[in-house]
Amino acid sequence: MNKEKAKQRIFQLRKEILKRNYEYFVLNKSEVSEAVRDALKKELICLEELYPDLITVDSPTQRVGSALSSKFAKVKHKRRKWSLADVFSYEELIAWEERIRRATKENISFVSELKLDGLNITLWYEKGSLVKALTRGDGFEGEDVTHTIRTIKNIPLRLFEDVDVEVSGEVILPKTAFKKLEGFANPRNAAAGSVRQLDPAVAASRGLEMYFYTLHEDDVYISNHMNALKRLKALGLPVNPHYKLHNSLKDSLYYLKNWEKKRNNLPYEIDGIVFKVNSVEEQEKLGYRAKTPRWAVAYKFPAEQSTTILQDIIIQIGRTGAATPVAKLKPVKVAGSIVSRATLHNADEIKRKDIHIGDTVIIQKAGDIIPEVLKVLPDLRPPNAKAYSFPLNCPICKGPLICPKDEAIHRCNNLQCPGRKRESFIHFVSKGALNIDSLGEKVVDQLIESGFLFDCADFFTLTKEQLLLLPLFKEKRAQKILDSIQESKRVSLARFIFALGVRHIGEQAAKEIANFLSKKLDAKEISPNTLKDIFINSTYNSLNEIE
Ligand code: IVH
Repeated sequence: MNKEKAKQRIFQLRKEILKRNYEYFVLNKSEVSEAVRDALKKELICLEELYPDLITVDSPTQRVGSALSSKFAKVKHKRRKWSLADVFSYEELIAWEERIRRATKENISFVSELKLDGLNITLWYEKGSLVKALTRGDGFEGEDVTHTIRTIKNIPLRLFEDVDVEVSGEVILPKTAFKKLEGFANPRNAAAGSVRQLDPAVAASRGLEMYFYTLHEDDVYISNHMNALKRLKALGLPVNPHYKLHNSLKDSLYYLKNWEKKRNNLPYEIDGIVFKVNSVEEQEKLGYRAKTPRWAVAYKFPAEQSTTILQDIIIQIGRTGAATPVAKLKPVKVAGSIVSRATLHNADEIKRKDIHIGDTVIIQKAGDIIPEVLKVLPDLRPPNAKAYSFPLNCPICKGPLICPKDEAIHRCNNLQCPGRKRESFIHFVSKGALNIDSLGEKVVDQLIESGFLFDCADFFTLTKEQLLLLPLFKEKRAQKILDSIQESKRVSLARFIFALGVRHIGEQAAKEIANFLSKKLDAKEISPNTLKDIFINSTYNSLNEIE
C-alpha cells in the first residue's frame, strides 16, 4: 500500500476504533466484539509500523487503558478478586503444569471447567439471605449491582442454610436470549450491559443466568475445589454441570479438545477452558502473582471473529443448482486458520447487510461452520467501493439464474450445467454417500477434463487404461481407485439414494425411503427388478426432474 493510501486508511481506522472504544467503554454497549476491535487495532499497528512518521500522539495505538463510567456505588470487596492468566496453546498449558509440578513436587489433580463468557459477579449472603452483589471491578473494589442481580431467576434470594458466605461466579446471557436483543456484538457484552442497567425491570426482561464457581464460607475449611462445588450446590446455588476432575493435564486435553469442537452446541457462549488445582493446600502453597493465582489458568480458544477486506463476490453453483454468493477476502487468520472465502448466503443477505466490494467486513468462523460475513463497517468504506448486483446468468453454463418469488435462493435450472454436474459427482463419491476412497475433488476434475465422466454411472465403467492417462497416475494409484469403486458397489440402499443428490433428500430422508422400499420388497409388493428400473435405469438427473 502506498503512503497516501495508508494515510487515508490510518485516518479511517483511528476514527472507527475511537468510535468503537467509546461505545464499549463509556456507553457499555458495543455492536462489535473485542476480537473485531483487536483486528482493527492490529491493522492500524501494521500500517503505523510501515510508516512510523504517520504515528500521532493521539493514535489509539499510543495508549493503554481507557475511559470508565461511574453509574453505580463503589463497594470494597471483602477479599481480593483474582483474574486468570490466559494461555493460547497446548505448549503453554503443559509448561504451566510443569511449573506447578516443580513447585509442589506432588502429583496434582485438576478440576477442568468451562470458561463461561460472561461477567464475574460476587454475592454476599448473610444468614442465608442475599444482601449484596458486586462486579469484579479492579479486583479491590466493585460496583454495586444488587438491584439487577436480584432479578436473575436462577439466583436464590435465600440459601438452603442460614449461613454467611461470599460466592462468585459468572453471569451469562444464553444464546437464545441474546438473539432477541439488538445493538450488542455478543452475549458477553449484552450480559454486562444488562447487569449495568439502572432499571432492574430492564435487566429482568433479558433472561440472564448465573453459574457459581467460588465459595468462601466463614469458619468452614473446604479442602478442595470439588468439595467447594458440591457445597455450592448443597446451598442451592447453580453450578455449571460440565466440570471434571483429572489426574493430570494430559487427561484433561481430551476434555479441552472435545469442548473446543462442541462449544457451538452449548446454549451459552464459552471462550475457553479453566484448569484449577483441586487441593486447597496446594493452591495456598502455589499462591498468587500480581493479579492472578498460580494455581489456575485459562486456555483461551482462538478468536472466531476478525476484520478484513472483501475483494470480490463470486457465485458458486451447488449440485442442486443453488447459486451461492461467496466473498473473496484478503486472507486473514481466524480461530487458528487462514480464511480467504466466506459465504454471503444469498442476494437478500447482501442487500440487507449493504455489502459493497472493497468494504471492510467482520467475518466469523464458528467451529466447523463455513466462515460468514457478519457485517460491514460502513465508516471504513473506500470511495471506490462498488455496489453489487446479483448476476442474471449462471457463471458456468451462462443459463439464466432464477429466483422464485417466495424463495431467497437463485438457481441455475440447467440439469446439464457443468457446474452442477461437477458438484453432484463430488457428492456422489463423498464420505456420507458412496464413500469412494481416494477419489477426491481433484481426481473428479481430472476425470471431467479428460472426458471420462458425463454422469454418475460412468464411475462404474472407468478402466485402468483411462485412469493411467490422468496426470500423476501410476499403476498403484489407479488400482486403488478401481478397488474402492468395486467396494462401493456394496453400498446400502439408503446411502445410494442419498448419493443421488436429489434436492431435499438428505441422509435422514434417504434412510426413510430405503426403509419403505425394503419393506415393500420384503412383502413382495415390488420386485427387485422394479427397484432396478427405478434406480439403475434412471440417472440421478432424471430423479432431479421428478422432484
Ligand atoms: S475462576 C481465582 N472459573 O474468567 C479464579 N473464572 O479471565 C477466579 N470465568 O474473571 C476466576 N468461567 O469472569 C473462573 N469456570 C470459571 C470461569 C471463570 C469464566 C471468567 C471470570 C474471570 C475471568 C478471567
